[in-house]
Amino acid sequence: MRIGILGATGAVGRQMIECLIEQDIKVDELRLMASQRSAGIEIEFKGETLKVIEARADSFEGLDVVLAASGGKSSKYFAPFIKKAGAVLIDNSSAFRMDDDVPLIVPEINGEDTKKHNGIIANPNCSTIIAFMALYGINKKSKLTRIIASTYQAVSGAGTAGVTELQNQVEALLSGKEIETNVFPHQIAYNCIPGIGTFLEDGYTDEEMKMQNEGRKIMHLPDLAVTCTCVRVPIIRSHSISISFATEEPLTIEEVREAVAGSKGLRLRDDGINNTYPMPISASDNDIIEVGRIRADKVIGGYSLFCSGDQIRKGAASNAVAIIKCL
Ligand SMILES: NC(=O)c1ccc[n+]([C@@H]2O[C@H](COP(=O)([O-])OP(=O)(O)OC[C@H]3O[C@@H](n4cnc5c(N)ncnc54)[C@H](OP(=O)(O)O)[C@@H]3O)[C@@H](O)[C@H]2O)c1
Repeated sequence: MRIGILGATGAVGRQMIECLIEQDIKVDELRLMASQRSAGIEIEFKGETLKVIEARADSFEGLDVVLAASGGKSSKYFAPFIKKAGAVLIDNSSAFRMDDDVPLIVPEINGEDTKKHNGIIANPNCSTIIAFMALYGINKKSKLTRIIASTYQAVSGAGTAGVTELQNQVEALLSGKEIETNVFPHQIAYNCIPGIGTFLEDGYTDEEMKMQNEGRKIMHLPDLAVTCTCVRVPIIRSHSISISFATEEPLTIEEVREAVAGSKGLRLRDDGINNTYPMPISASDNDIIEVGRIRADKVIGGYSLFCSGDQIRKGAASNAVAIIKCL
């Protein structure tokens, strides 16, 4: 298969290169693309040194699949050229996710939906993937009806620039210097910021609405009610989500635990007495979503849980590469 990565020098793009190897995708050609800024950068792939090229309208000829991780603006601009070249676009941005003819895929949950694609397949929002990975086995036992979620999102969710900003601020604060704020709207070092994305008229942000809108599409649950608060926290990698949910039919706690333990891609870490629960540190650098703190919820009438997952991997790169396998 001839594969292109658009945004190959970014946090997600670089991880995609590793995921192609890990998931044993047969790669006959790998074309690495970024903006003019990174043209000429050398990246190793299976013992070969590949040079990053500047993405242009005619860069996609001969490719079968393009994995895009270069932001919504660039995906929108390049999509027609990718289509014209006859390649399938697997896009990590939010540009096409809610389009009717674009499947929104988490392979473990709705891999079958890839069959309906029209040249573009979208990778869902990272917190949405992690949250619904934690919930999809439970939904098989009884339909989810309502969800209350709060996210704890790592700075790498804002790309390599987010990581640099946290590290620079920590260094500046420790050496008594002024901090600089470019990526996040406030100081992120030793702080948390309950505002991710663009604020909408009703007070939610667009990032928060993805949990409902994308969640409904992935799960085929058009009436699922979701309220979400998204918070940026000063950690480098892996998002966590606190979730309370209700189901159509009541489930026992054993059924909820069985659903989690028996679902592909999840690890049950749920022994509070021994301080065993999901954490970003233990969830980082692998594709498994950790789920724990499972308990009957005293308000919503269902259960609460906490999950952590590597959002650069399962929330983006490894999910996108796994979509190639669905194709
Ligand atoms: N980070 C995450 O956790 C995460 C999770 C899920 C989805 N996503 C999505 O994945 C995409 C990439 O995110 P990221 O975190 O990897 O960002 P990033 O670290 O900032 O990397 C962005 C990449 O896009 C390239 N790029 C930017 N503008 C371009 C253009 N006009 N033409 C070609 N290449 C261009 C950059 O190339 P240069 O090196 O030349 O600047 C770089 O390779 C975004 O849509 C993001 O929303 C990210």
